[in-house]
Amino acid sequence: MEIFHISAECYPMAKVGGLADVVGALPKYQNKEGHQVRVIVPCYDTKFYSQNQFECVHTGTVKLGNFKFPFNVLKETTDQLGYELYLIEIKELFDRPNIYGYEDDIERFLSFQIAGLDWISQRNSIPDIINCHDHHTGIIPFMVKYAYKYEKLRSVRTVITIHNGLYQGWFGFDKLHYLPEFDLMHVGFLEWNNSLNSLAVGVKCAHAVTTVSPSYLNEINIFSNGLESLFNSVRYKSKGILNGIDIEVWNPSKDEMINENYDLSTFVTGKQKNKEKLCEQFELDPSKPLFSFIGRLFEEKGGDLLPQAAALALSENFENINILILGSGNTEIESQLIQLRNDYNGNYNVFIGYNEELAHLIYAGSDFILMPSRVEPCGLNQMYALRYGTVPIVRRTGGLQDTVIDFGDNGNGICHDQASVGDICYSINRAVKLYPDKAHFNKIIEKGMETDHSWERVCKEYIEIYNLIIQQNEV
Ligand code: GLC
Repeated sequence: MEIFHISAECYPMAKVGGLADVVGALPKYQNKEGHQVRVIVPCYDTKFYSQNQFECVHTGTVKLGNFKFPFNVLKETTDQLGYELYLIEIKELFDRPNIYGYEDDIERFLSFQIAGLDWISQRNSIPDIINCHDHHTGIIPFMVKYAYKYEKLRSVRTVITIHNGLYQGWFGFDKLHYLPEFDLMHVGFLEWNNSLNSLAVGVKCAHAVTTVSPSYLNEINIFSNGLESLFNSVRYKSKGILNGIDIEVWNPSKDEMINENYDLSTFVTGKQKNKEKLCEQFELDPSKPLFSFIGRLFEEKGGDLLPQAAALALSENFENINILILGSGNTEIESQLIQLRNDYNGNYNVFIGYNEELAHLIYAGSDFILMPSRVEPCGLNQMYALRYGTVPIVRRTGGLQDTVIDFGDNGNGICHDQASVGDICYSINRAVKLYPDKAHFNKIIEKGMETDHSWERVCKEYIEIYNLIIQQNEV
């Protein structure tokens, strides 16, 4: 089967969050299954771009109303990723250091989608599947079906995978003329609540909708920033597929980013050595349990609860614990977290920013990972943590609920129901009581390390959906 994934992020080319990890791994495993898989992302000015080799395979011009943007399609030639990576180079729009957050994001991602389809439609072979990811690629299923210039692609089946349904890519009808011409009879597919809503368009027009966990599929029917009734109406073509993790990249027995490699039989000493290194780096005490948080500091992830929860947990436990935070995001949360250093020096530290290497060391060297998310479509960190023998403390929501079971129910982690300071501290206190009971604690760790979250298994579920929609003959 010939498959294209099209996305705003793909690790290692461009990463803001978990979307990149998924788009960087799923194609590799689909390729291994014998499919021809290609990934298309915009050509941002990232480190990966500057350090790798590319060849130009296509040149064209995107017309966006009165604007014209020349573009190149660049193929990555080092071929180490396990799939073919193509970058859409539109210098004026993407030759910038950040992935999102510009005033012209609508123009940027519309041009990206149009350039991508222009290229796909002039290739010799027509793909079977285009798998879009999130709202940045949500207009593609519409264009494949209805834009005159993509007539050649009418047989292509499209899937939209929702990693985050809160962001939807809204824009006004004043920008409708940016889209390539289509039969106006179908204009209704573009509208949701009096605006153009990229995610809604994708959900309406794709042949299948997937969410990144089964629980998240249920949740978006109840809350999804105004799209609830739409998600209800497309239940018949929707499926929640729990993400996998790349067990080659995330492998404590081979990971070169950590201090000491270990596996199921050596984790006790292996993790302690990593913990010592980490504690040395952050001036913490390696004899105390270490609770870490890795992620974006936003309300969605419960980031706003962290400063207060950390302070309370540290004072309730008379500083007999360590807390370490790695993340960036909301500047107010960042400064509150920095401030806390003064009060709990020696038991608490924070690294503002993102650092892949440090993240690996934190998974390897921590005892517990905190994930107090309000919304978590899947969450990968708890799966990385489980694989690295770090016990996840999670709020029961979305993918967290699908992967972490409380140790009180013979599970692999610690769970609470509310995204609140009280619930987080309650869980931390349970963890502090559990920690000295090494036999019990190690059993929970073993359970986590044994869990199979590999993509091999998950990627078959995607292929099943592709096969299903290929067999349907409705266009
Ligand atoms: C988004 C979601 C996260 C999910 C990731 C990959 O970042 O917030 O829960 O794991 O996408 O699908």
